[in-house]
Amino acid sequence: MTDESRSRAQEITQRAIASFDDCASERLMTIMKSLTYHLHQFAKEVSLTTEEWMAGIDFLMATGKISSDKRNEFILLSDLLGLSSLQVAINERADEATESTVLGPFFVEGAKVFQNGADISNGAQGEATYVSITISDSAGEAISGVAVDVWGADADGFYDVQYKGDKLFNRGRFLSDDEGKVSFWSILPVAYPVPSDGPGGELLRATSRSNMRPAHIHFALAKEGFRQVVTHLFVDGDPYLGRDAVFGERDSLVCKFHRASGDETATEAKLQTSHYEIQHNFTMARI
Ligand code: BEZ
Ligand code: FE
Repeated sequence: MTDESRSRAQEITQRAIASFDDCASERLMTIMKSLTYHLHQFAKEVSLTTEEWMAGIDFLMATGKISSDKRNEFILLSDLLGLSSLQVAINERADEATESTVLGPFFVEGAKVFQNGADISNGAQGEATYVSITISDSAGEAISGVAVDVWGADADGFYDVQYKGDKLFNRGRFLSDDEGKVSFWSILPVAYPVPSDGPGGELLRATSRSNMRPAHIHFALAKEGFRQVVTHLFVDGDPYLGRDAVFGERDSLVCKFHRASGDETATEAKLQTSHYEIQHNFTMARI
């Protein structure tokens, strides 16, 4: 950069930031000024070339084009850049609630409601796993009537919504009972790659990054008067813990999935053969 272009760059940045001076919303003004400042700083720091700027524009175009109501590639980009996990961390409160992590792109609003004890796997490939959770407040009191959304991938690492057609498996909603309990049959989670057939995958390959997430089940807990908990339970011992492609793992969310041998005398068929079991206590904070 010449001295002249440096001072021109400085002037452009100042004018671009000042262009938001009349914004009626103070919050929007703060966000846009800061975003503009940091975007300009970034371009100056790396001396962004015309080809690189155009490649960035093309990349965002491709991200928009592959997105649909079933796939949000922008969320995936946010996840892969660590922005989603950072945003969760920024908004965390100092309370006793179960720690949160990324929502991810495979949550579906309005999942089918099941009774406690139901099998949500619906034929998905995977090892049978019995999940039982309890939900209590910070004082240890059970919370009944919590809407608990659960979703997970199959043994091939795919969610139902990633298949063609209207597949529905390993996904459901429960209500916690009077003792704050929810239980269901699911399948053992496996480590899986994030969707890599779009710009997100292209980014990972171009930068020699792994696309793997450690094995987990997703949970979203909601009840009026309590702060929502959006989280996962991870499988202890998973080799990808500590190198999650989306930086979502947390020590407090790592659980032991115990292998249970079958009990021939059990009345429930699934209990007669070997399966996995997991138990976890969730805590919700009052608002
Ligand atoms: C998931 O856990 O479902 C997920 C999260 C972030 C990116 C891709 C998948
Ligand atoms: Fe997931």
